[in-house]
Amino acid sequence: MPQTVPPMDLTIARPGVVDHPNITVVGTGYLGATHAVCMALLGYDVVGLDVDQAKIDQLADGHLPIFEPGLQEKLQEVLASGKLRFTTDFALAADHGDVHFICVGTPQSKGSDAADLTFVDAAVTALARNLTRKCLIVGKSTVPISTAARLTALVRNTAPAGELIELAWNPEFLREGYAVVDTLQPDRLVFGTASAWAEAQLAACYTSIIQAGTPVIVTDLATAELVKVAANSFLATKISYINAMAEVCEATGADVALLAKALSYDSRIGGRFLKPGLGFGGGCLPKDIRAFAHRAEALGVGQAVSFLRQVDAINQRRRQRTVDLVTELAGGNVTGVKIACLGAAFKPNSDDIRDAPALDVATMLHEAGARVSVYDPAAMPNARRSYPELEYANSLEEAVTGAGVVALLTEWQQFREADPARLLQLTGAPCIVDGRHALDADAYQAAGWDYRALGRPARSGAVVSSFDEDFAKARLDAQEVG
Ligand code: UGA
Repeated sequence: MPQTVPPMDLTIARPGVVDHPNITVVGTGYLGATHAVCMALLGYDVVGLDVDQAKIDQLADGHLPIFEPGLQEKLQEVLASGKLRFTTDFALAADHGDVHFICVGTPQSKGSDAADLTFVDAAVTALARNLTRKCLIVGKSTVPISTAARLTALVRNTAPAGELIELAWNPEFLREGYAVVDTLQPDRLVFGTASAWAEAQLAACYTSIIQAGTPVIVTDLATAELVKVAANSFLATKISYINAMAEVCEATGADVALLAKALSYDSRIGGRFLKPGLGFGGGCLPKDIRAFAHRAEALGVGQAVSFLRQVDAINQRRRQRTVDLVTELAGGNVTGVKIACLGAAFKPNSDDIRDAPALDVATMLHEAGARVSVYDPAAMPNARRSYPELEYANSLEEAVTGAGVVALLTEWQQFREADPARLLQLTGAPCIVDGRHALDADAYQAAGWDYRALGRPARSGAVVSSFDEDFAKARLDAQEVG
């Protein structure tokens, strides 16, 4: 357990370790931009590198290409202090860095469940070609097991400094929406290293975080790679578990909101990531469980994680089930019916629409002939670009006006706080599907709405509403803490 890990001793002398290393961050997407800014905030001299000149220009100008609360202000702060610079030049980055963090994406391959390692291989190769002195390359991207071992050989064969270069794996557990706090105050640090020098050099990148008492788990390279995919698989499994229970509830008239609440009080189970609804999306959980299953199959242990295929299938079924519920409320046919789709991002406080359940549902409704009206507080530009066939509203009010059914698909605070009575004045019919179990069911019913949520009976006679204060607070804590 993390609590039993003794604090790392930073006073042991390690020959050749640079105490206050210069840092480069290769790849300035979500992970890399956050890591570069946070390392600079911690006082290191950081160079951020990307092959995308437009992105680098934007970042150097103090503008984030992504929506992440608080990060843009921090970016401007470290640019002003001179602690962070950006470049597209690998030779400059190689010259600068004592430690090079690899933060490029590992998306799902086209036509396969495997992770696409093209960007990792290209970044490591381009960097290695310019490495002429001893340094540490640290992978942070989520990769299939044994990638680090393969990259070690690649680097040593490619770099002019050859065997002097070491490679470590240091997986990242940050959540979108909480990226800065998750990076500066992580639950734990995982150091996958192949030598005491690499361990000490990596520790020197996190001195103040370690001194604050953060547990450090030192592992071999393969274990460090596995920790990340195992963590995301566990989280995905927990979500799909409660959503599987929602399916059972739907067949029996039981109420999954009450079930989740009752389960959450068992401290061995806990309420975090036990929120039923439309399920998980985003650029991480869906592709990570698929890549993990794919890699395990290649390793001959596919059976051990075959349940992940079920986790994925349960998650996908929630999307169709949401469409079914909307269709039911629309009287069995959505053709020509205006459906207000509230939310597009894969979760609140993000403009990320990768594998977004909300947009999948909106697309299915559109294809079924509905007139969808999508509104999201942050993800509209991304959604419009990727889903030009959908119709968009400029506000929550515009989306619900005249709608035959309102579908809450991403639980933004703005939607949670909306007044049910006011919405009812605007909408064309009093029908709402709460795809995220985020609304006060009693308040909506009291205002005259036909309130429906996945896994809940059509009319809950239960005394405790879905918005039970304790459970709602547990959910908010979960969102804030992990
Ligand atoms: C996830 C992990 O939580 C991070 O620890 C990890 O570092 C990151 O992936 C990554 O691999 O980089 P993230 O994708 O930002 O982070 O989002 P989560 O907060 O995990 O939410 C994932 C999805 O699950 C969202 O669509 C959310 O709506 C859904 N979810 C979450 C539920 O449906 N129910 C819940 O109870 C919790």
